[in-house]
Amino acid sequence: MTEPAYTRALPASELEPNSKKPVEINGKSILLCHTNGTIHAVSNICSHADEKLECGLMRRGWISCPVHGARFDLATGKAMNPPAKQPIAVYPVRVVDDWIEVEA
Ligand code: FES
Repeated sequence: MTEPAYTRALPASELEPNSKKPVEINGKSILLCHTNGTIHAVSNICSHADEKLECGLMRRGWISCPVHGARFDLATGKAMNPPAKQPIAVYPVRVVDDWIEVEA
């Protein structure tokens, strides 16, 4: 079994608690979210109409799309309410040597 390929995404000090930041990894737009004591890496693209989630409201464990208001669970990517029905991608994330690393 090969080791997962994690990519350095952002210094951990640049993602304050209760903040989020978009990064691009391997051509994918990914949103790093620091909420509820946990760092999540999710797709920055809403599953409803391909709009960016980075300006959405983030609360304990979820983010809402700024366009039509669908909410997504940051741990699972699951759509929590309409109009989105499909989940967004979630990516494994870890902190190594004060860097946030994402497998994407
Ligand atoms: S584009 Fe996100 S809910 Fe419609």
